[in-house]
Amino acid sequence: MEDIRGRVTKDGIRIYEDADFAGMRAAGRVAAEILDMVGDHVKPGATTGSIDDFIREEIVRRGVVSATIGYKGYQHASCISVNHVVCHGIPGSKVPGRSSDVLQEADIVNVDVTVIVDGWFGDSSRMYVAGTPKPFAKRLIDATHEALMRGIAAVKPGNTFGDIGHAIQSYAESNRLSVVRDFCGHGLGRVFHSPPNVLHYGRPNSGAVLEEGMFFTIEPMINLGRPETKVLADDWTAITRDKSLSAQFEHSVGVTATGCEIFTLSPLGKFHPTW
Ligand code: MF3
Ligand code: CO
Ligand code: CO
Repeated sequence: MEDIRGRVTKDGIRIYEDADFAGMRAAGRVAAEILDMVGDHVKPGATTGSIDDFIREEIVRRGVVSATIGYKGYQHASCISVNHVVCHGIPGSKVPGRSSDVLQEADIVNVDVTVIVDGWFGDSSRMYVAGTPKPFAKRLIDATHEALMRGIAAVKPGNTFGDIGHAIQSYAESNRLSVVRDFCGHGLGRVFHSPPNVLHYGRPNSGAVLEEGMFFTIEPMINLGRPETKVLADDWTAITRDKSLSAQFEHSVGVTATGCEIFTLSPLGKFHPTW
């Protein structure tokens, strides 16, 4: 009856136990190790399909499980979102606006990987660049990374989910960027997506109160233009309505007594594309 240990808050958020952090740490580490290897594959002339093949082979080689293959009919080991694709880009599909899935010089690329290790989910994404980014693209990537880290800095018991969203939104908007409203972070643990919805915008002191033992992702999508998105006819690929560039970084975190633990830190210190 292992599954009924622990408790769920009035907001429906599961509180995990101390021992569960080890499971999340192991799962997050595998996701991060794979993302550390992806950078070498993101270059002009590479295809998103080939990058996903590499990720799937790494998952198999490590004896772990892809959380995305078979999830709601999704068929791939990663989501690969290029330029104005906000999230859920399908590897091997045409880059929107192009005739193929071949990456070109200065493309900005989010790769999102979720693995299951001993039943625990590790979910993370990062930005990569094929070649050298344009200055405005670099500015978007830097600000999106900083927005995520400011959101994470707001994670501690007694703070609220609104505090996290506010930290992200206020930083992004002060840089004249916009926060996507149509997608959010999520609780995870022994499931992929669970309460709460982790919004990347909000008001201080609003929303559910953070407690030690909560596990969730923070994964802001930030646009150079307007925040609105639309999902293409493939039912997955989300793009910016105004075709402006979009960036995203994602970590899986757990609330500790004094702050939080990031489960998906890069073992090689390569979380940001310029590192
Ligand atoms: N990893 C994504 C997230 O951050 C979800 C991908 S679901 C998929 O929640 F089916 F599109 F892969
Ligand atoms: Co996620
Ligand atoms: Co993800």
